[in-house]
Amino acid sequence: MSILKDKNILLGITAGIAAYKSASLVRLFIKAGANVKVVMTPASKDFITPLTLSTLSKNPVYSSFVEEDLSANRQDEVNPVWNNHVDLGLWADLFVIAPATANTLAKMANGVCDNILLATYLSAKCPVYFAPAMDLDMYKHQSTKITLKKLKSFDNKMIPVGTGELASGLVGEGRMAEPEDIISYIEKDILDQLPLRGKKVLVTAGPTYEALDPVRFIGNHSSGKMGFEIANAAANLGAEVFLITGPTQEQTQNSSVKIFHVTSAEEMYNEVHNHFKTIDIGILSAAVADYKPKNVASQKIKKKDETFTIQLEKTKDILKSLGEIKSNQFLVGFALETNNEVENAKGKLKAKNLDLIVLNSLQDKGAGFGGSTNKVTFIMSSGEMIENELKSKTKVAEDLMQQILKQLHA
Ligand code: CTP
Repeated sequence: MSILKDKNILLGITAGIAAYKSASLVRLFIKAGANVKVVMTPASKDFITPLTLSTLSKNPVYSSFVEEDLSANRQDEVNPVWNNHVDLGLWADLFVIAPATANTLAKMANGVCDNILLATYLSAKCPVYFAPAMDLDMYKHQSTKITLKKLKSFDNKMIPVGTGELASGLVGEGRMAEPEDIISYIEKDILDQLPLRGKKVLVTAGPTYEALDPVRFIGNHSSGKMGFEIANAAANLGAEVFLITGPTQEQTQNSSVKIFHVTSAEEMYNEVHNHFKTIDIGILSAAVADYKPKNVASQKIKKKDETFTIQLEKTKDILKSLGEIKSNQFLVGFALETNNEVENAKGKLKAKNLDLIVLNSLQDKGAGFGGSTNKVTFIMSSGEMIENELKSKTKVAEDLMQQILKQLHA
């Protein structure tokens, strides 16, 4: 899944021959899951039609401050419509100007706004990327060098130009980067800025099944949803995630999440310890069985007597074992409580040497297993406590990750 998924991308097109490649660029942004709107300089319409771009982007294309609306009751009546450049700028998560001609770049660098693209640029608050496209000598000109330097000093990001044959027939630097390279550049740039870029996060999720015989087990109702949401939230912040999960229906499309399927507490213990030394953050949300059958029958147990007793023995406490060996890892546990909630959770935080514990109270409606909502309290090792409202598990996971980031930078 691309980091551009669900992002609002405003594509600015200026009057360069490379504008013919803007159609591919729109398609690639759409393919990556982004929403695309196009704003053009009037002269760029000589190079590519608004119809092509509106069809591909599935949105109206803006090229002037005032659009003529022919949809009035009487077809011969024209109602001018004001295209609000401020709204366009506010809508965008990213503004990508490709191709960006020497003329438009010079105007951007000097605050000129004599068309809707430039006015949008001046009012936009989002990150701006530009892909210059010009002839070799124009690109080398001192004035262009000053323009590019100035734009970079505004924190605008330049997508490096390509080298090769130019429209003039000359060969050299100055042509617009290929659409695929523009996309890769932007994706990498966004990923590099994410707060957990380069960090490894381990998450446990779901129930464990403790076998009684080849067909029966002791399990619990954990769906794994909370852990999967945490794994996704960590990956969305740039982390490489190791998700170790018990049996679950949950799935993730996130390519930064590596899944390891396990069944029993013992298998989860081993898999977690395979990774723990190399990770930066451990979040153990799995509902691990506290006890397992002492003896596992090799054949299916036959019914005989009226009553049947199973002897159970403790499983290894995975979280506790990590608290005992942790060095620099930030360790998070969960506590599901029914009474004396805060006191019990604080006790677990201390006993298991955690940095943060997420308290779920089964007394809260909408909290705990199965559902898509949760109501949790974050308790830090400092004693600080943050009570949250009932929220979707997606939002709880995002809040938890933000809280971890805050603690890491405290
Ligand atoms: N946990 C674990 N390994 C176990 C049991 C629990 O890693 N064998 C982890 C859970 O993933 C959770 C935390 O420990 O993050 C709390 O689990 P919980 O069962 O509530 O706490 P216990 O210490 O087992 O205490 P009790 O069941 O008596 O409340």
